[in-house]
Amino acid sequence: MSVLRKDFLWGGAVAANQFEGAWNVDGKGDSVSDHCTTGSAKKPKRVTINIDPGTLYPSHEAIDFYHHYEEDIALFAEMGFKVFRTSINWTRIFPTGMEEEPNEKGLEFYDKVFDCCKKHGIEPLVTISHYELPYALVAKYNGWEGRELIDYFMNYCKAIFERYKDKVKYWLTFNEINSGTMPFGAVLSTGTVKGFEGYTNEVPDKPGERFQALHHQFVASALAVKYAHDNYPQFKMGNMICFVTSYPLTCNPDDILENQAHMREMNWYCSDVQVRGEYPAYAQSIWDKYGITVKMEPGDAEILKQGAVDFYTFSYYMSNCASADKNAAASDGNLIAGAKNPYLPASDWGWQIDPKGLRYSLNEIYDRYRIPLMVVENGLGAYDKKEADGSINDDYRIDYLRQHIEQMIGAVKDGVDLMGYTPWGCIDLVSASTGEMAKRYGFIYVEKYDDGTGDLSRKRKKSFDWYKKVIATNGDDLT
Ligand code: BG6
Repeated sequence: MSVLRKDFLWGGAVAANQFEGAWNVDGKGDSVSDHCTTGSAKKPKRVTINIDPGTLYPSHEAIDFYHHYEEDIALFAEMGFKVFRTSINWTRIFPTGMEEEPNEKGLEFYDKVFDCCKKHGIEPLVTISHYELPYALVAKYNGWEGRELIDYFMNYCKAIFERYKDKVKYWLTFNEINSGTMPFGAVLSTGTVKGFEGYTNEVPDKPGERFQALHHQFVASALAVKYAHDNYPQFKMGNMICFVTSYPLTCNPDDILENQAHMREMNWYCSDVQVRGEYPAYAQSIWDKYGITVKMEPGDAEILKQGAVDFYTFSYYMSNCASADKNAAASDGNLIAGAKNPYLPASDWGWQIDPKGLRYSLNEIYDRYRIPLMVVENGLGAYDKKEADGSINDDYRIDYLRQHIEQMIGAVKDGVDLMGYTPWGCIDLVSASTGEMAKRYGFIYVEKYDDGTGDLSRKRKKSFDWYKKVIATNGDDLT
């Protein structure tokens, strides 16, 4: 008998910039993702200031969900999805982010997507900002470093809340908001790359800008949550954290302290603000470490207090270790590398696979906040191989997901209040970190390759039927 809620939200997750394509269709403007080229596991992506006609930008066509949404949503429904997590491409609605009136064509597209979900009995879960910052705001304000973005973001929120108030109930303000605590986040998340052109790992790190940008995102998120609560009481508002749990590499007290500091800065800093409605006591020590001052305006503290989220969501792919020994062997990772854990295997991209870390994380997060949780990303990016008959037998993906779902169920038995689970990239899409198509996560294979070729046809992988059975049995049958 399933221990999961009867109304457990099984589904899948994607982001507009990684799968919609149609990057300049029907009035859409260019986002920061539209300025990123393809990279690989070994070679980072590049950001360009202008869109170079001779360069391949993977978001421009992606898997063209824009013209395949009916077919794709029907496939999700066939698997039994109860929920579909996607994002709204900010630049479809406000092409530069600064217009006064929204772009009607952009609004119509999401009407069609949400209506199609409804037709299939699927509840949308919408990320308002998922690496889709209008590039014009990067160019003019250095992204979220500019306080002006708070107002632009609120215009965008007001437009989409009002338009979709009867179609969308679950909203997440910023995807992986804690990306901004790491140098990597400067490109896709805080957009603090005004005037920068080059490889993403060469962006000069400016912690002062990142943490200032984060403050503006916290205020914007809180204002959006408060506005939603005041005007649309039916809405449920969540945050979204890239949770990379970290263990001390050894029981040396130096490693314990190192790990505690790392956990605070990377995993807890943002959610402490978004869930508790105030900065944690240790915030000043982080700013002191970087020698920075975060500018706040009178009234900001009050706004943060009033904009606490209703539920906490996170992505979980891997774990890391922290060590005071700077020579400890490093791992690769989702947004940030850490010390290598000798007990864990890793994916082809070096992400350490740790299903028990998910149970541990769920317990740690729930102990801290005691609000409902949802795992809104999890999955294995892997090279899929087509057999001679065209089938894709992705047993490795099934194993990965099975082990994580088992641990998720374990956490529910431990007492965690878990609302749902939406594995990442339920249909193959462009990788956020590398821009590749070859790093596939989907239950559905898409004929699209790194060189931009492919007829975009869709095909069910072996994991498709497996996940369908998992959903049908509410997680009881994971075989
Ligand atoms: C998360 C992001 O970091 O991880 C997604 O929210 C991203 O946008 C996912 O795609 C997986 O990362 P990657 O780099 O394998 O695409």
